[in-house]
Amino acid sequence: MLEQAQYRILRRISPQEPRSLSGDVYKGRIKVKVLLGDALFDELREKVVIDLGCGEGDDAVALAKNGALRVMGIDIRESLLERARLKARRRGVEEICHFCTYTDEKADAIVSIDAFEHFSDPASILLTMASLLKPRGSLYASFGPIWYHPLGGHLFSVFPWAHLLFSEKALIRWRSDIRSDGATRFGEVEGGLNQMTIARFEKLVKRSPFVVDSLEAVPIRRLRLLHNRFTREFTTSIVRCKLTLAHPNPA
Ligand SMILES: C[S@@+](CC[C@H](N)C(=O)[O-])C[C@H]1O[C@@H](n2cnc3c(N)ncnc32)[C@H](O)[C@@H]1O
Repeated sequence: MLEQAQYRILRRISPQEPRSLSGDVYKGRIKVKVLLGDALFDELREKVVIDLGCGEGDDAVALAKNGALRVMGIDIRESLLERARLKARRRGVEEICHFCTYTDEKADAIVSIDAFEHFSDPASILLTMASLLKPRGSLYASFGPIWYHPLGGHLFSVFPWAHLLFSEKALIRWRSDIRSDGATRFGEVEGGLNQMTIARFEKLVKRSPFVVDSLEAVPIRRLRLLHNRFTREFTTSIVRCKLTLAHPNPA
């Protein structure tokens, strides 16, 4: 009954795929630089870098164009990797920037942008990342929106925090009218959605081979006056961090 009523409300609010409420904030800008800071390119100069969860490869290509020795973009979706390869060719970095679904080659640094809220098993991804780092390598990650962010439901946030107000069943049923991939849970939607929170991420890191070098919960600009350690799950725009190995891998 309740699910049916919620589904009807969602249909009424958004009979078609909603326009992204977050807009195209990175248009004309290099996302990895905006999110992880200007110094990143200098830090990764002449380094072998993996971009894990690279999507269409813009950041991997940007890293290759800006001084990285070699970049490997990894993603589980071959269709995105195809587009990424094309971008690398167009930007003239195909010799040093490769895209594939898997690598066992070790890197000086791993970069991961907007992917930790999508990985179906983030704990095992942290283990994989640790195994892919050279001794004293670092992981630079930025991700969001996290689950309690107003738009943390991604497509399901038909209005701010809608994904927290409606049941998963109602939201999935509404989505199945506009996307036909057969997903029955948040975690099964295209790209995945694991309901990541800051607290959960911190717990995962604590249980992983990594230690936190730095971790910042960047406030949503308009909510920055309300942002503190009690409200951070709701008022954080992105989480960015640098993690290093607790016990450096053997050379
Ligand atoms: C929101 S996209 C971000 C893409 C890109 N980093 C960006 O910022 O534009 C998240 C990406 O993570 C990828 N992904 C999800 N699970 C993965 C996994 N286990 N291994 C590698 N990539 C994964 C998805 O296919 C998707 O391309």
